Amino acid sequence: MVFPPLKNDLLLRAARREPTERTPVWIMRQAGRYLPEYRALRAEDEFFTVVRTPELAAEVTLQPLARFPLDAAIIFSDILVVPQAMGLEVQMVKGKGPHFPRPLGAPEDLARLRTPDIASDLGYVFEALTLTRQQLDGRAPLIGFCGAPWTLMAYMIEGGGSKTFSRSKTWLFRYPEASHTLLGRITDVLIEYLVAQVEAGAQALQVFDSWAGLLSPEAFEVFALPYLRRIAAEVGAHKPDVPKIVFARGAHYALEALAESGYEVIGLDWTMDPKEARRRTGGRVTLQGNLDPATLYAPPEVIREEVKKMLAAFGPQGHIANLGHGIHPDHDPEHARAFIEAVQEISGGDA
Ligand code: CP3
Repeated sequence: MVFPPLKNDLLLRAARREPTERTPVWIMRQAGRYLPEYRALRAEDEFFTVVRTPELAAEVTLQPLARFPLDAAIIFSDILVVPQAMGLEVQMVKGKGPHFPRPLGAPEDLARLRTPDIASDLGYVFEALTLTRQQLDGRAPLIGFCGAPWTLMAYMIEGGGSKTFSRSKTWLFRYPEASHTLLGRITDVLIEYLVAQVEAGAQALQVFDSWAGLLSPEAFEVFALPYLRRIAAEVGAHKPDVPKIVFARGAHYALEALAESGYEVIGLDWTMDPKEARRRTGGRVTLQGNLDPATLYAPPEVIREEVKKMLAAFGPQGHIANLGHGIHPDHDPEHARAFIEAVQEISGGDA
């Protein structure tokens, strides 16, 4: 497939730890409910209808880029399309979030999972990537993504969000073998899925381990890290030039291990200290993050001051600026703009 030439490759260069004129910036959940144009489109269609309709997914992906001078686009989709492809029903309930009517209860339920045919079951994601990459016209690189094996396992067993994650953690402690079987099956699917995303047009990949912080260091070592490593190794073997980002929210203790796990970029949540993260990862990886999303409730002048501190703490190279987690639905788009422009102006020496 031939795509338009890339006019802004700052994110790709930063991911490879090559010098950049300024720090690239994007925002997790940059396409979403804080944008009135997203809410207008969603008023017409269900969440998963938008995700499954390539023209709509491409339109939503490009909405934030039409407003802001972002240095990356991230394909509009969801981590839960993989459990769906493996045979579990997932609904998006307004005001509540994802809901699985029949989550996995006990190990015998593994028999309910199917091995997806990636090309046909997730073909709508690949079509959305190809269409978006064409419409992006080289303005910025396009990021593909997936959920990490442990985070997906947690959703598949809990059936949605949870306070204690007792059901999924029960599996780890009571059914460790079945847990490894499940994690292995999810990992097999994710590897094929990420490689196919690159073939469809993704220029960088992010793995979201949103629930990593629920695990003890030892449980992370046993149930999360080996699978994250396998994904990096196998996707990297197929697509060596495509940078991989891992965002393991709350996994402070695992920073050194993550820096050796095969990902070029480590995403930090806002509870991590950038200087300490730099010291502990020793310049081996690029760091991404990590302004507290709540900073965007402050007035633009304060956002700018906080950005200045963040940029100084990370230093000018080997950094991709982002929030430390997704932007909130009640954030003011103009405050997102203040964040993006502050990164670009301050790191580029125009301020
Ligand atoms: O702009 C982007 O970042 C790309 C799109 C994107 C979405 N979900 C769209 C979405 C991405 C990268 C995701 C990833 C995702 N999905 C994660 C990992 C990131 C994280 O937040 O830790 C997780 C855990 C999910 C599962 C999920 N999807 C939840 C828990 C929810 C409900 C919570 C919420 O924010 O409402 C969703 C729904 C969802 N995914 C929305 C969007 C824009 C909102 C749904 C709507 O429009 O009604």
